[in-house]
Amino acid sequence: MSDNAKLEFKGEVYELPVITGSEKESAIDITKLRATSGLITIDNGFMNTGSCLSSVTFLNGEKGILRYRGYPIEQLADKSDFVEVSYLLYNGELPTKAQSDAFYADISKFASLPDGVKNILNQFPADAHPMGVVSSTVSALSCFYPEFLNPEATDEIKEKAITQLMAQVKIIMANFYRKTIGKDPVDSNPALGYSKDFLNMMFDGEIDDEVASALDTLLILHADHEQNCSASTVRVVGSSQANIFASVSSGVDALWGQLHGGANQAVLEMLEEIKNDGGDYEKFIAKAKDKNDPFKLMGFGHRVYKNFDPRAKIIKVACDTILEKLDVQDPLLEIAKGLEQAALKDEYFVQRNLYPNVDFYSGIIYKALGIPTNMFTAMFVLGRLPGWLSQWKELREDKVAKIARPRQVYVGETERNYKDISER
Ligand code: SDX
Repeated sequence: MSDNAKLEFKGEVYELPVITGSEKESAIDITKLRATSGLITIDNGFMNTGSCLSSVTFLNGEKGILRYRGYPIEQLADKSDFVEVSYLLYNGELPTKAQSDAFYADISKFASLPDGVKNILNQFPADAHPMGVVSSTVSALSCFYPEFLNPEATDEIKEKAITQLMAQVKIIMANFYRKTIGKDPVDSNPALGYSKDFLNMMFDGEIDDEVASALDTLLILHADHEQNCSASTVRVVGSSQANIFASVSSGVDALWGQLHGGANQAVLEMLEEIKNDGGDYEKFIAKAKDKNDPFKLMGFGHRVYKNFDPRAKIIKVACDTILEKLDVQDPLLEIAKGLEQAALKDEYFVQRNLYPNVDFYSGIIYKALGIPTNMFTAMFVLGRLPGWLSQWKELREDKVAKIARPRQVYVGETERNYKDISER
């Protein structure tokens, strides 16, 4: 459905088509703006700019709604599992039993890494940040699977990419963790199921089904989030027809930042700092409000959600459940709850619609599962992989997609002549 918007500039009126999506969101299509008016737009952080039409994920920040392919996140977290949700995101429909079994069988085919990749993993220092390890090792995979370098990614390549990367990133993370604690890697055993297999590769001893289920729910909640910073990065890199490993590796790097996926590690470090400082979270709320203090309340605020992040609500309940199940008394959880309550009543946060986001409580669960803090953002990678791959596939199948190449407004020096060094 299309309407028109009118732009008046220097006495001229320009008609711009308006497109409306299936959830009644409307956008001005400025594809021809520069050609007709000579104007471009500027939008810091792309806060008001859509990059694509997408059918993968819908979120409404004002209402706190998140749906994968139309299914509410609450239902998927309650009824589905991470492999099934990955299939849904990638293929657009929930799988039949046969499709689900075939999909997981494909993931299970990649129960190991090429020896060369294992050698690369062994070269990293034990104190390397896991995000640097994952990003560089995913990029290195392109050296071992040349068939993925085909610029015209075939359907077979696209299909193989999701199952291969879902399996191999899990192994890369677990194998590197074992190296950091001086233990030999544990082979993947896909028969355990995706999340239990990961925990089994990480830790010695029997893995509790409820613990594996809690992790599976966390992975579902992280699986996609429309055009966030890292998904947009995967799309930008994919738009040049770079291969899938290069695109995903770039997404890993974008997610690393503490304003994005790196926030889950930063939340734990912030809570530890508050605990070590005597637990006075009001003091840290004051710091977060102080314009002269760069400190931000990690895990709070969101570009889109101006209401509760629906994922944070689910994770908070899961937090209580899993800590009770594991009989873990984590003082950081009590600090987090106190901090949340205090911030939600504080005018500064209320006025700016700052609520807990997906990263606020997730680190507390990862910590209870025994996952080291510096691996929290890598856990976000594991969850977000199917989302990135679904967005990349949608981009590569979009017949009108063009290479991403924004414009700019130049504000530098106007033309001037070169001066010999003796004249400067
Ligand atoms: C993720 O996009 C996604 O979908 C991301 C994600 C996904 O699933 O992919 O949901 C995952 O990245 C979640 C966000 C994790 N990051 C954090 O928790 C870091 C802390 N949060 C902030 O840095 C911030 O809220 C952002 C980066 C998340 C959003 O920043 P915006 O949209 O650019 O908003 P802003 O920085 O312009 O903030 C608006 C106002 C400012 O104050 P004023 O200039 O109006 O006075 O709110 C203030 C900000 O200073 N503010 C905060 C704050 N977040 C915003 N003040 C204190 N603490 C905070 N956390």
